[in-house]
Amino acid sequence: MLKNNIKSQFPLLDSPENKNLAFLDNAASTQKHESVLKAMDDFYRGSYANIHRGVYRLAEAATAAYENARVTIAQFINAGEEAEIIFTRNTTNSLNMVASSICQQFAPGDEILLTEIEHHANLVPWQQAAKHYQLKLKFIPVTSEGRLDLSNISDLCNNKTKVVAVSAMSNVLGTITELEPIISAAHKVGAVVVVDAAQAVPHTPIDVKKLDCDFLTFSAHKMFGPSGIGVLYGKRSLLEALEPFEFGGGMISEVTWNSSTWADIPEKFEAGTPPIAEAVGLAKAAEFIQSVGWDNFLSHEAELTNYGLTELTKISGLHLFGPSDAKNRGPVFAFTLDGVHPHDLASVLDENNIAVRSGHHCAMPLHRKFELLATTRASCTIYNTKEDIDRLVEGIKKAQKLFC
Ligand code: ALA
Repeated sequence: MLKNNIKSQFPLLDSPENKNLAFLDNAASTQKHESVLKAMDDFYRGSYANIHRGVYRLAEAATAAYENARVTIAQFINAGEEAEIIFTRNTTNSLNMVASSICQQFAPGDEILLTEIEHHANLVPWQQAAKHYQLKLKFIPVTSEGRLDLSNISDLCNNKTKVVAVSAMSNVLGTITELEPIISAAHKVGAVVVVDAAQAVPHTPIDVKKLDCDFLTFSAHKMFGPSGIGVLYGKRSLLEALEPFEFGGGMISEVTWNSSTWADIPEKFEAGTPPIAEAVGLAKAAEFIQSVGWDNFLSHEAELTNYGLTELTKISGLHLFGPSDAKNRGPVFAFTLDGVHPHDLASVLDENNIAVRSGHHCAMPLHRKFELLATTRASCTIYNTKEDIDRLVEGIKKAQKLFC
């Protein structure tokens, strides 16, 4: 376990009102690090103006802060250059951009390969594009253990496959996807790979050059940064070939009454006033993760994963989904409890000051595959402790006493 108390660096968790809160809903959104809040506050108080538009000093300072954030994020995921980083609203927005633009390049009958663990954000945009362009959706199956079954990957990726879009980590099962064999099979047939890293980004280091993925998306709010900003990484040549998704100020090169031409990347994809202070906050969040260090993240979370798996599976009547061992698995625990509805369980836990999520977690087809409508989900991150998991276990036992 980490020696210094990271929780105290998160003002909400350190506040008198929330001192006893076991916050276990980090897959939905994380709390904000003090450096993120301070950077955004300082920016609004001292350097705020719109960007890319003014020649006055304040506008230049704001533009520099926004563009420096792009450099920080390019370094954070090891992009080839900062122009390959597009700031969006969130992961869903990034995935909609790619799906709606790239599918314009395909012919009826072409195939999109997804997986059965996808969040709706990496499913519904492809369904819509498939309907519009008469494309076929295929899925890499998930095993009963909650891992992707890659045994058939070379048949699923064929010469009709144009895109393989895959989550790097399941928001329900905690499974961390083995991306390398998927990317290699996709590239063998010339397909483009889109990685949804919304869940993975605060749990495991991402190196887009090493992975050789073509697009990758994530959100700031799941990595201790602000809501309202996400990232779309894309290789330069692919971004240049994509049509813009939104149109207006900031993304044009030349406009006449009847037509327009587009700015270069990244501006081509950033129509309108972007999330400026949020970019400053996102950069600070990435710096916070780097200052803790990936070795510390990985070892702390491996301990939480092992502890959670051991303690939760001791509870009789509790059914845990996802891999039963901590290998390639993060500290996300979705489960059902005999005799207690997931929403009732979440309410009892809340009465005991334990915050979890219940429902289908925006992964309805995955729940149906396991013949479920809903689960209760506890998801941990760097500031959680074994005591938080002990509190969860006690809370579950209280609910059992109440309902069973
Ligand atoms: N995608 C978020 C979750 O899994 C909202 O809870």
